[in-house]
Amino acid sequence: MCGIVGAVAQRNIVSVLIEGLRRLEYRGYDSCGVAVLANGEPRRARSVARVADLDEQVRDTKLAGETGIAHTRWATHGAPVTDNAHPIFSRDTLAIVHNGIIENYEPLREMLRGKGYEFVSQTDTEVIAHLIHSLYRGDLFAAVRETVRQLHGAYAIAVLHKDQPHTVVGARQGSPLVVGLGDGENFLASDALALAGSTDRFIFLEEGDVCELKLDGVRIVDRDGEPAPREVRQVAAYGGAVELGPYRHFMQKEIFEQPRAISDTIPQADAFDPSLFGDDAPKVFGKIDSLLILACGTSYYSGLTAKYWLESIAKIPTQVEIASEYRYRDSVPNPNALVVVISQSGETADTLAALKHAQSLGHVHTLSVCNVGTSAMVRQTEFTFLTHAGREIGVASTKAFTTQLVALFVLALTLARIRGHLSDAQESSYLKQLRHLPAALNSVLALEPQIIAWSEEFSRKENALFLGRGLHYPIALEGALKLKEISYIHAEAYPAGELKHGPLALVTEAMPVVTVAPNDALLEKLKSNIQEVRARGGQLYVFADSDTRIVNAEGLHVIRMPEHYGLLSPILHVVPLQLLAYHTACARGTDVDKPRNLAKSVTVE
Ligand code: M6R
Repeated sequence: MCGIVGAVAQRNIVSVLIEGLRRLEYRGYDSCGVAVLANGEPRRARSVARVADLDEQVRDTKLAGETGIAHTRWATHGAPVTDNAHPIFSRDTLAIVHNGIIENYEPLREMLRGKGYEFVSQTDTEVIAHLIHSLYRGDLFAAVRETVRQLHGAYAIAVLHKDQPHTVVGARQGSPLVVGLGDGENFLASDALALAGSTDRFIFLEEGDVCELKLDGVRIVDRDGEPAPREVRQVAAYGGAVELGPYRHFMQKEIFEQPRAISDTIPQADAFDPSLFGDDAPKVFGKIDSLLILACGTSYYSGLTAKYWLESIAKIPTQVEIASEYRYRDSVPNPNALVVVISQSGETADTLAALKHAQSLGHVHTLSVCNVGTSAMVRQTEFTFLTHAGREIGVASTKAFTTQLVALFVLALTLARIRGHLSDAQESSYLKQLRHLPAALNSVLALEPQIIAWSEEFSRKENALFLGRGLHYPIALEGALKLKEISYIHAEAYPAGELKHGPLALVTEAMPVVTVAPNDALLEKLKSNIQEVRARGGQLYVFADSDTRIVNAEGLHVIRMPEHYGLLSPILHVVPLQLLAYHTACARGTDVDKPRNLAKSVTVE
């Protein structure tokens, strides 16, 4: 999704800006650009191709300057064409880059047209540029502060002005923005990762903050204009570049990293103690009477899986909602509920907004399950459980999902213990199972050659159905999401019992039906559903536990899972579905790590 980088220094900062954009590339974008003050004039280069093309342009044109801003754009208002690419100028005087969406851009545009401003792009961003220009009276910081007071919606912006050398002004509301502190130079970015090559000292701006970067320091005020001292945090972990190693794509690498990621996420402690979630958790967890889980996409599916664990092991009522739906419906708040937000990035706009909405309704206890310790979500929740997936580059989430499942399983066991539903013997048995998971996963990864053989056939299909039951229905949903997002094959998932209520009409020889078949209480029911598909000529592709007695036959293709894993089985069964999606996408030649139209971190609503 959109990315911002800005810098003021006493050296040419174009290469810093381009390097920052490169680091943000994995998030997905469709155009990019950079602007600097060159001899007191804003100059820019923009491209609707990759950052590498932008880099070539700036080298060819010898674009150089000591004050600059840069951007990767994921189109919202206006097509991905050069005129809509950022930086956007106002009257060749100031330049702006913007993440987010301005909801009241139409009345503002009319008002500015009335003042004689001409619009050359279809972006909502151009409104901000002209508004700052119209309010500028020799002080960019003041003009930006006055401007943001008139904006409705979400934004992170960085602005430079021809009359203010060595100055970049930034502001944020609903979209992340971080200041990077250097020696005699300072930086701004939408993600600290972008600045990893330049500094390891960061200030994470808070909602409503406006900042001014100069060579010798940074000024920050809050939404009321009051000076806002913000904590400086040293974050060295952003340092290392992520290498692809022997893998073809980051998605493949990340699938194979799962045993390590899971092992890093499983707590070292020998008991499931609430303090794993925060110092005050022992006091609070004993009092909560239900859970409200809010998330999007793959993270939502991890929440759906966790509902089965939470209700069956901890016997605690659990509601799971798509964040973007929850925030816009009337709901009944329960101050004794624990609100759990799940997110890889911790910056997903819909989930952040749902969290804020829950808090505004009176929910007091909040927990984030998140992969990024410095993210807004972690900062805005009372409790945190960090997953240790490591940086996930592929847009399709894989290791983030399985580590979220581990975290949520630990939550279920912790609540079960506190609520008296977990004996010591059960606790040590679950701990043993968790610790064996990485080894079990390695055996599943060894199925890759068999899955590659199936993927050849899938690559020639345009539709697929995924079936699962109980705990594995969310896994079927996740398998279908993986296949559609990276191979562009239309895929839908159903709880297998629902088949005869409609989707069975779709089943023909041309429709592959992928089925997740663990050896659990629903196996016999699932076998009946399998027969319903076979009887109609459907082609079944089944991932079956070893002792299910489901065997290869006409129309029935079986890959045998190495071992049955009880309640933790979803963590194993999702992996072959990830591999199936990955190899099918490779066979179709799609851009696996950066699928069309998608972004890694969805920071707009
Ligand atoms: O960073 P988050 O976990 O909050 O992201 C949520 C979704 O945008 C994300 O899971 C998305 O669905 C992935 N592309 C799925 O692979």
